[in-house]
Amino acid sequence: MHATILEKEGYSIKYQFHAGATKPYVVGNGNGIAVAKIAGTNDPASSIVQVRQDARILRYCDGLDFVPKLYQFKEIETDCGKYAYLIREHLEGKDIYDINYVSAGLLRQLELQIRTLHEMGIAGLDLAIISVETGICFAHNVIVQAGTPFLYDFGRSKHLVDLKKEEFDREKDEDWAEFSYILNTRKD
Ligand SMILES: Nc1ncnc2c1ncn2[C@@H]1O[C@H](COP(=O)(O)OP(=O)(O)OP(=O)(O)O)[C@@H](O)[C@H]1O
Ligand SMILES: [Mg+2]
Repeated sequence: MHATILEKEGYSIKYQFHAGATKPYVVGNGNGIAVAKIAGTNDPASSIVQVRQDARILRYCDGLDFVPKLYQFKEIETDCGKYAYLIREHLEGKDIYDINYVSAGLLRQLELQIRTLHEMGIAGLDLAIISVETGICFAHNVIVQAGTPFLYDFGRSKHLVDLKKEEFDREKDEDWAEFSYILNTRKD
């Protein structure tokens, strides 16, 4: 259904990612490719909310060179219910968790990016969600493209205007704890 809707909206489906709750698609958008993240009323309740929030935060990030561009965000009503989708720039690269060791320089870059987003009032970046039982890390929200880290999934991120200061500070602390995890497990 999701693929059909995207096709009706004028995108050609290239393939689907099998990661993430929404399993985004790589789509053709005229002259190149892009990533489509789509959720509908039949998906888990939080999904549409997350696509909407992802698009909202991507819009705030417009102009940052470490965040993919948002090309489109749309909410549509169909016979099968309501859908929300976003189209964002495709990143050519590898997930930071699929790289065994990354340079100190890259980690310093990531640290600066997190600081920049916090200063813009954006936190809760889901850099790493670690299972208490197994120690396995689940979040995969940093892609390394041409040696530079990119942050692209803001579905569960928060903006300062929506939270009390203590709540925002807690989100920031969590980001730093997750960054430490990356630092400790990925440092060259
Ligand atoms: N712009 C992009 N460029 C390249 N790959 C991408 C891009 N956006 C998403 N992906 C791939 O799709 C996967 C899932 O994307 P994303 O994290 O946005 O979905 P999600 O449903 O929000 O996942 P979750 O909420 O579980 O983190 C990513 O792990 C990544 O492999
Ligand atoms: Mg993700």
